Amino acid sequence: MTKNPKEHRKDPHYKQAKRENYRARSAYKLLDINKRFNVFKRAFYILDIGATPGSWLQVARKFAEENISLYKDGFYHRDNFKIMGVDLKSVTPVEDVKIIKMDVRNPAFLEEVRSFFGGKIDLLLSDASIKKSGIKFQDDVNQIKLCNKILEIGNEIIRNKGAMVIKVFQGSDFDEFYASMKNKFRLMKSYKPKGSRKNSNEIYLIGMKKI
Ligand SMILES: C[S@@+](CC[C@H](N)C(=O)[O-])C[C@H]1O[C@@H](n2cnc3c(N)ncnc32)[C@H](O)[C@@H]1O
Repeated sequence: MTKNPKEHRKDPHYKQAKRENYRARSAYKLLDINKRFNVFKRAFYILDIGATPGSWLQVARKFAEENISLYKDGFYHRDNFKIMGVDLKSVTPVEDVKIIKMDVRNPAFLEEVRSFFGGKIDLLLSDASIKKSGIKFQDDVNQIKLCNKILEIGNEIIRNKGAMVIKVFQGSDFDEFYASMKNKFRLMKSYKPKGSRKNSNEIYLIGMKKI
């Protein structure tokens, strides 16, 4: 988000989000990622990490619900969808979505996930960002630390051939993180979606076909 609220309100994605009832302009980043990589294909069980205020949950819910009837074709399918959102902060409820307020670094988090889904998930989304201190090096390191934790969680709970989308900052330790994630997925892409500000060093990694 831009630091200047006036500038933020002038932003075309902000206006579009208002019009289309998305809680945040970040919805368009996920929609663009999906347009490019089809990450919601056959995604029925979805975990969204760093979910507040909930625009990715709104997008995820829409696709998961559509998928129930879209993929009744004899290939991988589930008869219901399950979505869980987690954040340190509260999230205003989203219909049919389980929301928990928790730090994903808490070891008890994985148990919460397992007990809710009762098995592996199809897609892990993470738009989680650390609270920036303004010291770039330190912020990059802390973000990668958080991403490593999330990758560890993903490795435990994403099904074979499942997918993951994660926000990373391009900076120190980025290459190392990229390489560790590449080890877990047959296909990996990095992408700066439309809606991601040009002056931000965020980038999204998309892992597909989990090993
Ligand atoms: C950019 S916002 C996510 C926006 C969201 N994708 C949306 O579209 O509404 C990043 C969120 O990550 C959350 N976050 C950061 N570290 C976290 C952690 N350790 N556990 C859970 N959530 C975390 C922050 O509280 C923040 O709300």
